[in-house]
Amino acid sequence: MESIMAQIQAIKGFADLFPEDSALFLRMEQAAREVFPRYAFGELRTPLLEYTDLFRRSIGTETDVVQKEMYTFADSKERSMTLRPEATAGVMRAYIEHGVHAREAVSKFFTIGPMFRHERPQKGRMRQFHQINCECLGPREAEADAEIICMLMEFLGRLNLGDITLQINSLGCPNCRPAYRKILRDWLESLDPAGLCEDCRRRMETNPLRVLDCKVPTCRENTARAPVMLEHQCPECSAHLDTVLRHLRAQGVSFEINHRLVRGLDYYTRTTFEVVSGSIGAQGSVAGGGRYDGLISSLGGPDVPGIGFACGMERLALLMREDGEHFLSRPDFYLASLDDSCRDAAFELAQILRGAGLGGTLAFETRSMKSAMRQADKSRARFALILGPDELAAGTVAVRNMENGEQRAVSRAEAAGALKA
Ligand code: HAM
Repeated sequence: MESIMAQIQAIKGFADLFPEDSALFLRMEQAAREVFPRYAFGELRTPLLEYTDLFRRSIGTETDVVQKEMYTFADSKERSMTLRPEATAGVMRAYIEHGVHAREAVSKFFTIGPMFRHERPQKGRMRQFHQINCECLGPREAEADAEIICMLMEFLGRLNLGDITLQINSLGCPNCRPAYRKILRDWLESLDPAGLCEDCRRRMETNPLRVLDCKVPTCRENTARAPVMLEHQCPECSAHLDTVLRHLRAQGVSFEINHRLVRGLDYYTRTTFEVVSGSIGAQGSVAGGGRYDGLISSLGGPDVPGIGFACGMERLALLMREDGEHFLSRPDFYLASLDDSCRDAAFELAQILRGAGLGGTLAFETRSMKSAMRQADKSRARFALILGPDELAAGTVAVRNMENGEQRAVSRAEAAGALKA
């Protein structure tokens, strides 16, 4: 037995979600489905598996996700496929493939589901994890950025998460970012290379902005005085960010500017943001997103800009201060037979109650009174229903209120009404 289990146990970083865990996920999904449609977002479900090229082209070949973290394999025709590491790329593919831009000027989609990244598992970091992802395609205007951030904060506000901080930065555009990148690279090259980790020494060449979000303490200390992106932006990018921030202030959405916020995926332009929490350890980013004005055209689609974000559901679950049990609905009844002769009537009664919209458990085995009461208590049911030979003959069922212990005989035909009353 043990040796079989050793071969078939769950893959490291892949979790089973039992009902009390799922209850938190359902709560998040419910909040998403309440909030997002008020901002005209509709649900888009895309496949979990896509051709690898989609992710290489959108996320960027220099990113950790593409270089180290994708679950990639060849299908029987030797085409390289990848389990989606994020939702944005698939949403863009669907948008382009179905010519959505020709039908509507603005498209807003949300996607909920599992993503796959081969990272080192730790608290809040899984290899299969779940995202709630939103994308708004079409508008270039800063109001779209402000709107989606307001929506994100409204959604998070419904989840009772405790202290979270919204951090914002702007990564500029193809007009101003190359010049900043050069200024930053020159500055980094003036440092003693021994003060930077090996990854940063490589990133200095390939993607110097990523040096800014390195987590190694010495790298952070040594880059504390690095030139700041916002001071090297073109007037259009500065004005765009100012408008976003003005709307956030007016809406009472508090935020911090984080000059180091560069995000780990290559497609971002202008506004980038993350929501972080100090209380779940190293993996404190519960949501991240930003604008990606060149992404759709780089995938062969029309020149349509976009902005979006994704929340990590496992991380939100760590922060939600209610126990999952709290969201599990309490059963209405636990129904047991005290004698084999009563089991048909019990089965029938359970179905009648469910038909009336009530929920609960039917004990399949015949039970003693004591064991029936113990099980009823364990099931957290509001009422224990007991059927013995006397009740069977009288057309009744004994109904015990599990809160106050009151018990009475109720006609089986009226049991549903009695439980609802
Ligand atoms: P991301 O920052 O890579 O962005 O991921 C977004 C969120 O997913 C993170 O803030 C985190 O909460 C969660 N997450 C990421 N990796 C893991 C993991 N291994 N385990 C648990 N949670 C994780 C994106 O994915 C972008 N596609 C977001 C976006 C949408 N940007 C524009 N539109």
